[in-house]
Amino acid sequence: MSFPTERPRRLRTTPALRRLARETALAPQDLIYPLFVREGIQAPAPIEAMPGQLQHTLESVIGEVEDALKLGIQTFLFFGVPASKDATGSGAWQGDGIVQRAIARIRETFGQGPVLAADLCLCEYTDHGHCGVLREQRVDNDETVAIYQRIAVSQAASGADIIAPSGMMDGQVAAIRSSLDENGFTDRAILAYAAKYASAFYGPFREAAGSTPQFGDRRAYQMDVGNAREAVREARLDVEEGADMIMVKPALAFLDVIRAVREATDVPLAAYNVSAEYAMVKAAAERSWIDERRIVREILLGIRRAGAQMIITYHAKDAAREMPCWEELA
Ligand code: PBG
Repeated sequence: MSFPTERPRRLRTTPALRRLARETALAPQDLIYPLFVREGIQAPAPIEAMPGQLQHTLESVIGEVEDALKLGIQTFLFFGVPASKDATGSGAWQGDGIVQRAIARIRETFGQGPVLAADLCLCEYTDHGHCGVLREQRVDNDETVAIYQRIAVSQAASGADIIAPSGMMDGQVAAIRSSLDENGFTDRAILAYAAKYASAFYGPFREAAGSTPQFGDRRAYQMDVGNAREAVREARLDVEEGADMIMVKPALAFLDVIRAVREATDVPLAAYNVSAEYAMVKAAAERSWIDERRIVREILLGIRRAGAQMIITYHAKDAAREMPCWEELA
């Protein structure tokens, strides 16, 4: 008997054999590209800690969507940065709010082609930077959810296909579903940020969205980073409440959570490759310490392998551009 009897190396012999045996693939259509639209600026503004990403104007965001569509990206997630903020975040549900206007314009320009998702949260719109309204320095769950219902309806009215509540309030999905339905938006989907952790990986985003809490932190509503079983519970609750799709966020330090949620639920699962995950890659690449193209491929395939079928990522354009050449990197 010859040794060894098992030779997995046979299938690694040539690029074509490796391609044939590969278990995981990704296409630009699997990526969701997050975009920031800021009210009251005359030109797009670079986000320092997220090289290559911009706060867009209502004009520049059209061009950005157009570029991404040409690369095969079809889904976008919008964040608004309003010109003024108040205690209840009233800018979030105005018909002429920045996100509503951006979505309406993009819909008008590109028709039904792209999938448009609206992040639903208050932190960009409140003067205190918390994701809900305050009662004695604490975010009041039920009052906040009532506001989320109004925001969801106004985002749907502007043309959003998907409403993505990210505030981590209890009962938010059921409440949003019922107000969408009551207002005739039975056809709009909910992508629930089901397991969103109180993470340091959101740092650069808070600069991008102007959403840093003015006091305290988000640990009384976002999840504790030590917990995985709780993520499964959150995911199940959101599915029971009517979520069409769910999300785990961040991605890279939570790949086990992605896997656990994938196995426990059967709705489409997204993972958010968040701002600091992006910033770390960009910072190291700028110093030529890493090969950005190969790193990005490996990160995105890893998230997919863990069980996420959609990936929300700031690398979307770069990755989509590189995908035809990924075989050379494999
Ligand atoms: C808002 C929101 C945050 C992110 C997405 N939606 C920030 C936060 O909760 O502080 C983070 C995204 C990223 O870091 O890329 N609730």
